[in-house]
Amino acid sequence: MSIFNDAIKNFLRPIEELLNDDSISEIMINGPREIFIERKGQVTRTKNVFRDEEDLLSAIRSIAQSVGRTIDQQNPRLDAFLADGSRLCAVIPPLSKKGTTVAIRKFSQSKLGLNDLINFGALSKEAARFLDICVYLGKNILVSGGTGSGKTTILNILGARIPKGCRIITIEDSQELQIVQEHIVSFITRKEDTGQNIKAVSMRDLVHSAMRLRPDRIVIGEVRGDEALDLVQIMNTGHDGSMGTIHSNNPKDACTRLELLCLLGDTKIPPDLVRKMVGSALQIVVQAHRFSDGKRKITEISEVLGVDHYGNYIVKDIFKWVQKGKDEQGNLIGEMIPCGYLPSFFDLIVVNRLPFPRENFLMPEWAQVQLKVKKAA
Ligand SMILES: Nc1ncnc2c1ncn2[C@@H]1O[C@H](COP(=O)(O)OP(=O)(O)OP(=O)(O)O)[C@@H](O)[C@H]1O
Ligand SMILES: [Mg+2]
Repeated sequence: MSIFNDAIKNFLRPIEELLNDDSISEIMINGPREIFIERKGQVTRTKNVFRDEEDLLSAIRSIAQSVGRTIDQQNPRLDAFLADGSRLCAVIPPLSKKGTTVAIRKFSQSKLGLNDLINFGALSKEAARFLDICVYLGKNILVSGGTGSGKTTILNILGARIPKGCRIITIEDSQELQIVQEHIVSFITRKEDTGQNIKAVSMRDLVHSAMRLRPDRIVIGEVRGDEALDLVQIMNTGHDGSMGTIHSNNPKDACTRLELLCLLGDTKIPPDLVRKMVGSALQIVVQAHRFSDGKRKITEISEVLGVDHYGNYIVKDIFKWVQKGKDEQGNLIGEMIPCGYLPSFFDLIVVNRLPFPRENFLMPEWAQVQLKVKKAA
């Protein structure tokens, strides 16, 4: 709460305790009478309420004002960052039927690392080590997942593992990436403001500039527009080790989605060539997922090997999470296993003397039996 001045604090009194509680990661307000929170991945309704719509709207208006923005009938949607790095999105009536709708993703002071993901059960030790190797070897990595599945968190963690000495350029729409590195340059796009005669600067524009600023690694916060084609071209022209996130449900879909985004711009490249370019640009897809028990996990780490004769992407799982059951509290029980597939670049792991033996890719016996039973059924 300390980031707000007294006037705003007063407006936010109804949710003061939620803002101060560090165990709460997100606050979701669906009109004045309905406030949900996320704590440890679980979403629950709180008893907190605003007095009425006018009070809620005033609170959001004053927060918007405090970050130099306006939310009113001309601009009924707001995407803003608060001084402490928390992200606030709001939509006001009549666009939102229940009343002013707000989501505040609170900034977490503690940065998660690969070890935290291992401790949370989001990733196995071997898989974490393997991801580390992929970053070290400069593989092109796309983190795929649904909304709030943990994509940006994973990208931050992978970005932090980029070897020292690399010049990193990050490009994003809103300031979400927090990669802790020494030599890093961050770019953010700009929206058009006709009133102020300010022209828009797109992701695509910034990718073009980034290319002339001697990057070793380019990191795109979220690939969601025609900058996808530039990213694919960068990845295909010797700028290894580029990374980004994308909204999709599994590694194959991530390839298809990237292809679709590449075709959004007025490209003259034929679609089947674009598919081939995506197939050869992408090397590793890391799939994130938020499960019904609220836990966020990496469900697949896969290698993209190109496109087959029929035009299908060839995607091989290297590690994947397998569910074995559910406990009485509804928590999923499972484990991340190697899939018995040796990545195409295993020789690079050997010649670079990276301590990751071939056995780490072998599928455990119980999983092989399970797979055989499944196939027979
Ligand atoms: N493995 C994890 N375990 C517990 N919490 C996590 C984990 N990964 C991410 N989180 C938390 O989940 C929330 C959402 O994570 P994040 O912002 O990375 O998701 P996202 O997929 O990028 O979301 P969006 O689609 O909105 O961009 C954050 O509060 C983050 O701290
Ligand atoms: Mg994100």
